[in-house]
Amino acid sequence: MKKAEAQPFDKHARTIVREREPFNSGAPLDLLGERFITPIELFYVRNHAPVPRIDEQSFRLKIDGMAKRTLDLSLEDLRAKYTKHEVTATLQCAGNRRDDLISVREIPGEVKWGAEALGTATWGGVRLRDALESAGVGEGAAHVEFIGGDEVEKQGKTFGFGGSIPLSKALSEEVLLAFEMNGRALPDVHGAPLRVVVPGYLGARSVKWVRKISVQREASTNYYQAHAYKIFPPHITAENADWTTGLMLGEMSVNAAICAPEAGANMPEGKCAISGYATAGGGRSVERVDVSIDGGASWVEAEFVRSEENDASSNDARWAWRLWTCEAELSKGTHTVIARAFDSAANTQPESAASIWNFKGYMNNAWHRVEVDVN
Ligand code: MTE
Repeated sequence: MKKAEAQPFDKHARTIVREREPFNSGAPLDLLGERFITPIELFYVRNHAPVPRIDEQSFRLKIDGMAKRTLDLSLEDLRAKYTKHEVTATLQCAGNRRDDLISVREIPGEVKWGAEALGTATWGGVRLRDALESAGVGEGAAHVEFIGGDEVEKQGKTFGFGGSIPLSKALSEEVLLAFEMNGRALPDVHGAPLRVVVPGYLGARSVKWVRKISVQREASTNYYQAHAYKIFPPHITAENADWTTGLMLGEMSVNAAICAPEAGANMPEGKCAISGYATAGGGRSVERVDVSIDGGASWVEAEFVRSEENDASSNDARWAWRLWTCEAELSKGTHTVIARAFDSAANTQPESAASIWNFKGYMNNAWHRVEVDVN
């Protein structure tokens, strides 16, 4: 048997590499859907520039802008000054499931993600709130901007990837400056030595290799806040977009994907196990997942996988996905299996990707469909 090729950054041999440089990857859905906590080797990677190597000893985090005191902190300072906390949270890229939008109409220049651009980890670090409290927040401040230590080249300029979140979110206890992932030191490719983790928001705000935090009146003017990661109506294109408009993305919306069976699977007639993940954004939790095997004519309720971590009642489930499973009786022929979720605000997913198409290909949460052949 041919030996599986080793993947960069210690990723799993079966990793789907969407782009080599910058490195962008995710796990095959059958592996991703197996465990509540995503092993680091299966955790997706989304980079806009080469991975920087930042020396932990000389690393400094600067907090300035409308902070009352400018802080210049080493990693040691952060660990010594503030209490360590852990948060189990799903990070999801706003481009997750872009492939279905691309099937509606092409989206040039964007990564063709399947449903693998997300993962759940236990992040360890200090609360951003604690650092902001010791810096002091000036009157009139409304946003907190993060700038990373990578070097993106865009529009003839070189700059660090960045973005901002509202001050109210920055002061919430779940937002971390993380130096650990699943109990290990944060790996380089995931932002070492320090990254922001903003649970409930699109992954882009969880800035990796964070080196500067700025308290400000307005949202960030960084390319990845003011230009990319905005959503426009379907008639707007790259050619006619007015970048001063468009909806700046923030909280994620409710979503679900089928991890097994895989699209195009050939299976025997009879009982079939269907399983997957569901996510909610902005501190809402996933409350129900429905599955259809007849194209949406009828639905059955899936069960949530019982485990201490996956159980909404025993865990602060607002920040993490829920894994679900259901059994269906499949007769001979071609079937379209569909999944859709409901969150704690009774939000649910739109039926078609066509109805939410946007030229950057963000936030696809249309019903997830998988076609299988039963014989
Ligand atoms: N931070 C920096 N500095 N550079 C980046 O390219 N990508 C963002 C975010 N933080 C990015 C970044 C995006 S779009 C996502 S979805 C997440 O990181 C992905 O995090 P991961 O690679 O650890 O999975």
